[in-house]
Amino acid sequence: MHRLSALTFHRSQQIVMSTQNECQHPEDEAALPQQPSRRRFLQSAAAAATVGAAPHLRAQTQTPAAPPAPSNQAAPPRPVTLTINGRAYTLQLEPRVTLLDALREYAGLMGTKKGCDRGQCGACTVLADGRRINSCLTLAVMHEGENITTVEGLATNDALSPMQRAFIEHDAFQCGYCTPGQLCSATALLNEFRNGAASTVTADVRARPAQLSDDEIRERMSGNLCRCGAYANIVAAVRAVHDGGSQSGSAAVEGAPGAIGAPGAIGNGRGDELRNGHTNHRTA
Ligand code: FES
Ligand code: FES
Repeated sequence: MHRLSALTFHRSQQIVMSTQNECQHPEDEAALPQQPSRRRFLQSAAAAATVGAAPHLRAQTQTPAAPPAPSNQAAPPRPVTLTINGRAYTLQLEPRVTLLDALREYAGLMGTKKGCDRGQCGACTVLADGRRINSCLTLAVMHEGENITTVEGLATNDALSPMQRAFIEHDAFQCGYCTPGQLCSATALLNEFRNGAASTVTADVRARPAQLSDDEIRERMSGNLCRCGAYANIVAAVRAVHDGGSQSGSAAVEGAPGAIGAPGAIGNGRGDELRNGHTNHRTA
């Protein structure tokens, strides 16, 4: 019995010591610096993770560098040689100058008109190697080496072109502002048609000879607007030239009997408007 009591006491002391080791208070760990604890390990790991992530966090919070501001400085002018109406013009142009501005502001050819300056009205139409283009939509430097024709270049040796004469005969303009573009466009139109170019209203592109109907003329002239509404007479003028109904060039020389500008001639006094693109009441 005495021996049994001693064994029971020894066993209970073991249990108490074991429980004390498992439930040791954390502050007691501080007293044992040599013994690495779980808490210290977690603290060290968290600190290491924070230090490792710091550059990444800073990169994320930094505002991205602003792109360099565009320079307001224009490229310097350089000599550009344009062949306009058979004559070479060497102009000092910035690369961003449009062909329209080069013609009007640098070459002094005010016949070509600026309407919308956005490619919508056709007032600025000129010919580049015979092809009609909106000169407000193209840069002058792109046309070095090409033959540019403006309204001033349609007449030859003081004789209006057949299209210019037909515009007068058919009263195809009123204020005249759109007329230089209409004339250049109509001139190119007939060349395109003769070369077999089809339009969106051509019913049969293989039919020969091709028929230039009024619908064809309207469609092919649809890029040239006329605020005065002279469309019906413009179509009539184009048709007349196509059908060969316009007067011959020799009869159109000013001063000749029956010629444009001569007393009693059709469209008397209006020849200059179509030759230079200038109307009596509007200079540019
Ligand atoms: S000014 Fe060029 S299309 Fe109108
Ligand atoms: S004649 Fe005036 S805009 Fe065409």
